[in-house]
Amino acid sequence: MTVVTKLINIDIIQVRINDYLTDKLNSLVINDEKLHAAMHYGLLIGGKRMRPYLAYITGEALNATQHDIDGIAAALECIHAYSLLHDDLPAMDDDDLRRGQPTCHKAFDEATAILAGDSLQTLAFDIIANHKFSEKISPKRIELLRHLVKASGYQGMCGGQALDLAATGKAISLEDLETLHSLKTGALLEASVMMAAECSTVATEKDKEQLARYAKLIGLAYQVRDDIIDITSTEEELGKPSGSDLAADKSTYPALLGLSGAQEKADNLYQQALQALATLPYNTQNLSDFATFIINRKH
Ligand code: IPE
Ligand code: IPE
Ligand code: MG
Ligand code: MG
Ligand code: MG
Repeated sequence: MTVVTKLINIDIIQVRINDYLTDKLNSLVINDEKLHAAMHYGLLIGGKRMRPYLAYITGEALNATQHDIDGIAAALECIHAYSLLHDDLPAMDDDDLRRGQPTCHKAFDEATAILAGDSLQTLAFDIIANHKFSEKISPKRIELLRHLVKASGYQGMCGGQALDLAATGKAISLEDLETLHSLKTGALLEASVMMAAECSTVATEKDKEQLARYAKLIGLAYQVRDDIIDITSTEEELGKPSGSDLAADKSTYPALLGLSGAQEKADNLYQQALQALATLPYNTQNLSDFATFIINRKH
């Protein structure tokens, strides 16, 4: 089994996770061809694979095996893909473009996009339950499931999406916006770090505390930057509509603080994230580069 000792990069990880997810989807026996095609469409057409990447580079820093991280990364990406299928639906953000393609409900139909999202969600739990984790990590499946459940359900992504919808067309406080963003986007990024840390046999509780701090900060920064690029990047760069938040009167950081205030917030979160990493006795270069990427990304 490969022990992660070398610095890995996003290109290698994108190929690795895409291969894993393609094999997984191809291996499923799904009677309804349209459902299978929609799951394929939602999961395999594009996507930066940031949550898998974060899991692999956390695993790399903590000497976890890439094979163990494969299961975690795949499960996280299934939850993320499902969240996007549902986020784009008319009942939510009502967007027509995702990853440079028509959204799933446009390419198929609404019922199929809902069911494909539901199926990708349960596939995530299936993967954690059945992935061939190494001997030392296999007994941690329930703990891994706990992380994923908390990050994706009412205490995490779904809870944040509900707050997002409730805040649409309203002015909310900065504190409430922080809670909303930390839940709808931060929670899954945080789980990417913490589930990978569960696959390490060297990380101490103290290390995990610092990693959790880093993860919370970059998780929030990810959505702050998403709000910014919704305004500053083109549709071509984003692969999704630009100006969608303004058109829908969403509660966002630029709406509350202005563009430069929002970027200042992202920079501030970035500095704090680097401080959290500095306390760790591992090579965290890829983790700090990831934080740098987040606050500068254009798509
Ligand atoms: C978009 O996520 C939605 C958010 C939670 C901000 P990504 O920016 O990771 O989208 P993909 O997966 O690369 O398309
Ligand atoms: C999405 O936030 C968060 C999710 C849980 C999917 P957004 O609604 O801002 O994501 P985009 O901009 O459509 O990708
Ligand atoms: Mg949304
Ligand atoms: Mg959206
Ligand atoms: Mg957005």
